Amino acid sequence: MNLKELRKSKGLSQEQASQICDVPLRTYKRIENNPIYLDSLKYKHCFDCIKSCSSKHKLIKNKDNIVVVGAGYVGLSIAVLLANNTNVTLVDINKEKVSLLNKKISPIKDKLIEKSLKEDKLNLTVDTPNNNYYKNADYVFLALPTDLDESTGLFNTNALDGVIKDIRSVNKGCVIIIKSTVGIGYTESFKDKNIIFCPEFLREGNALYDSMNPSRIIIGLTKLTPKIKHISAILTSNTLNSPSIIYMSPSEAESVKLFSNTYLAMRVSFFNEVDSYLLSKGLSSKKVIEGIGLDQRIGSHYNNPSFGYGGYCLPKDTEVLSNIIGGIHNSDLITSISKSNKSRKEYLAEEIISHVKSITQKDIKDIVISVYSYLSKSGSDNSRHAALIDVVNILKNKGINVIEYNGESIEFFYKKSDLILSNRFQDVPKELIDKVYTRDIFFSN
Ligand SMILES: NC(=O)c1ccc[n+]([C@@H]2O[C@H](COP(=O)([O-])OP(=O)(O)OC[C@H]3O[C@@H](n4cnc5c(N)ncnc54)[C@H](O)[C@@H]3O)[C@@H](O)[C@H]2O)c1
Repeated sequence: MNLKELRKSKGLSQEQASQICDVPLRTYKRIENNPIYLDSLKYKHCFDCIKSCSSKHKLIKNKDNIVVVGAGYVGLSIAVLLANNTNVTLVDINKEKVSLLNKKISPIKDKLIEKSLKEDKLNLTVDTPNNNYYKNADYVFLALPTDLDESTGLFNTNALDGVIKDIRSVNKGCVIIIKSTVGIGYTESFKDKNIIFCPEFLREGNALYDSMNPSRIIIGLTKLTPKIKHISAILTSNTLNSPSIIYMSPSEAESVKLFSNTYLAMRVSFFNEVDSYLLSKGLSSKKVIEGIGLDQRIGSHYNNPSFGYGGYCLPKDTEVLSNIIGGIHNSDLITSISKSNKSRKEYLAEEIISHVKSITQKDIKDIVISVYSYLSKSGSDNSRHAALIDVVNILKNKGINVIEYNGESIEFFYKKSDLILSNRFQDVPKELIDKVYTRDIFFSN
């Protein structure tokens, strides 16, 4: 069976197939018309992706009344996903976001969310919070911020606590699904069998794509009632793949989330430490990391060095887990990850200074280092807690003049910069590339 026959047997359109394979529609069409592309490493995965996707992408109309609280990366993607076949009300205290969404404009950069808001017939109401919405809800998804509380070293759950109180004051029976990342034991502390924890694993920039193709669905519950079991049907009625659904206790589900993100942070830190060592010895990180990755137990993925892990989730989740288990258990590895990330940024700042001095022969006070974009990863529009911000602060503290791109002409920006910092090559215009300093060693165009 060729790719086209396989896709048709699954009842998928070419557009859905391109989303499942994560390739642009034009590329997908080319692959389907010319199977020789399937031999290339870049597109080899397409056949297996279509083969493993659940047959027929059916949207069964769902009669549940769903409320999603928080229109950020997590809440917006769940709301858009579910609103294809269910009545969804999305509420957020940020009036600007509500107003944009009511004009079908996405407040975040995400190709599929932008497209879906414009083109799909969504049953989606967007508003500021109101107890009437909670009163009539069958299921309420909570996608609220849980920032690091610096004073306790744990998550600040004030937004969650307040909204759960509001919901229960008007609706005792609806199921509350916590999607926000919380500490181990948070969900069970409510002693309410209708509050469950369902961790979210999406990536910013690909939020809706990841919600349509979840790696797994984890449901943390204390009692499996029919109403709670129905959540798996709600969550999978719009997915394009067939994710494993795993039931466990809320504390176990909270552990899955925190240990997963901490593993990712550890992997980033590991390859960054490899890179720091090789860089200091004048050896090729690219060759060594390629050599390491060919062991199938390690693999050649998620191994590209960077300025450090950053973003909204990895730093805070790693820090909180380290604070939860540090001191109680033998956790030397986990508690050292944040330290390794900090050392990486300090090491790179020194490395950048010696590099720029050697290429310009200038005195520190005359050097101009610039930043075109603080984005940590391509595809995202978010630079919150980007590692580059910390690197820049270290450079500034060492007396380096660091400037930021302010919309001027690219030519002028190029001329006045001695070196341009970017976590990834892809985030800078090609006219600037030869002055870019990055550790993006696996960049290919
Ligand atoms: N961003 C990610 O990639 C990601 C991935 C997995 C899990 N998470 C977790 O999911 C949670 C949400 O993350 P996010 O990135 O979507 O956050 P976000 O900051 O993008 O969005 C949160 C939204 O909640 C709104 N809000 C705050 N208080 C509110 C209240 N009382 N009532 C209604 N709305 C309120 C804010 O205005 C904001 O729009 C966090 O716990 C995060 O750790 C995030």
